[in-house]
Amino acid sequence: MNPSDSPQYTWAGRFSEPMSEVVKRYTASVAFDRRLWRHDIRASLAHATMLARQEIISAADLADIERGMAQIAEEIETGTFVWSLDLEDVHLNIEKRLTTLVGDAGKRLHTGRSRNDQVATDIRLYLRDAIDDILSLLKQFQSRLLDLAEAEAATPLPGFTHLQVAQPVTFGHHLLAYFEMTRRDAERFVDCRRRTNRLPLGAAALAGTSYPIDRHLVAELLGFDGVCENSLDAVADRDFAIEFCGASALVMMHLSRLSEELVLWMNPRFGFITIADRFCTGSSIMPQKRNPDVPELARGKTGRVYGHLMALLTLMKGQPLAYNKDNQEDKEPLFDAVDTVTDTLRIFAEMIAGISTRPENMRDALRQGYATATDLADYLAHRGLPFRDAHAVVGLAVRHAEALGVDLSELALADLRQFSALIDEDVFKALTVDGSLAARNHIGGTAPEQVLAAIARARRK
Ligand code: ARG
Repeated sequence: MNPSDSPQYTWAGRFSEPMSEVVKRYTASVAFDRRLWRHDIRASLAHATMLARQEIISAADLADIERGMAQIAEEIETGTFVWSLDLEDVHLNIEKRLTTLVGDAGKRLHTGRSRNDQVATDIRLYLRDAIDDILSLLKQFQSRLLDLAEAEAATPLPGFTHLQVAQPVTFGHHLLAYFEMTRRDAERFVDCRRRTNRLPLGAAALAGTSYPIDRHLVAELLGFDGVCENSLDAVADRDFAIEFCGASALVMMHLSRLSEELVLWMNPRFGFITIADRFCTGSSIMPQKRNPDVPELARGKTGRVYGHLMALLTLMKGQPLAYNKDNQEDKEPLFDAVDTVTDTLRIFAEMIAGISTRPENMRDALRQGYATATDLADYLAHRGLPFRDAHAVVGLAVRHAEALGVDLSELALADLRQFSALIDEDVFKALTVDGSLAARNHIGGTAPEQVLAAIARARRK
């Protein structure tokens, strides 16, 4: 039998016995890398076009390859393509089928190419598409966030530090904090895309190829911004995938913090929001329950994305140049990071749009915790008392109000004046929640006017 016709047809020539079943299963990647099939075919077509232009293969070969690939794409799409474990990975499965369909032209496709530069190219093409999807989902999420922030631009609620009442903020302002976080997340993905979008093909196994190839043509056909400039680096490194997982870990971290807040806000002790029923689940035993499963799961899934980042970093750290089979292990973490971030963003964009707020409960929560105590200290400082002294005076006033079980704004003027003669009737304006909010009227501040201005700026971008 011609060695190229055996099941492991690409390299069987050198071997005296077939691979054991367990080794076959251990080394094969087709079960998961078949998701790269579109990118694999696309890259092969660009490679074949270049080979024909450079007269390395004939125009007739190229036509055969194009015809065969069109049929293979159709077979995969309609589910009639037979994936074989014997053929190890997506690349060999497609190449073998091509050869069956078009004969020798199929066997010529791999001229001047190796699976090492092939897989590196496929992964970059795949990741580029994934990043584009994620960027558009991030934008959707942000636009829903801006809509909600606009509706709640003037809604006061307690801002926390240490999860204790600190100062009043507007809900719109609070939501815009997440806008800023995800804006930086988007920047990170854009940046990662730049470094991902370079062509490895032409590196061949590791050293380049002796054929008169035109790498720039292939790069152009595939929409890459340029070529990887060192053949060893082109096939060996997966830093772009690690970077992607880093950006993914960060966006998940942000969404996880938001999730934690959504869960808290839904608790009746807060009662700040309700999440639409379609994002919640019930309990099999407690009939009254509505559980915020979606944010809880997002919080949980953040851990697996962190894990993928750690997996890829560890995967690379001990590898001598150039390609090593270790790199096959890049795919499952990367794919799962893509899926997790994509699904989470898609569902969050919808969930944000399905949030209804309970402004009365938010305002109510401000009746406890002396959120305007800082405003009283600022009031005294404006009147000449050094801030540290003002701080001490207000501390005493809070203790007094606490003993009476009232808010600072509910103390009589005479009562307040016991703590400082600088206090006048106009103090009550400073002690109200709305006065406190309106006073923080600078860029980045929580005043409703500033929230609306920030939203307008965000929408312009
Ligand atoms: N399935 C392999 C991977 O994912 C393709 C490259 C295989 N190259 C090799 N020399 N065995 O990395």
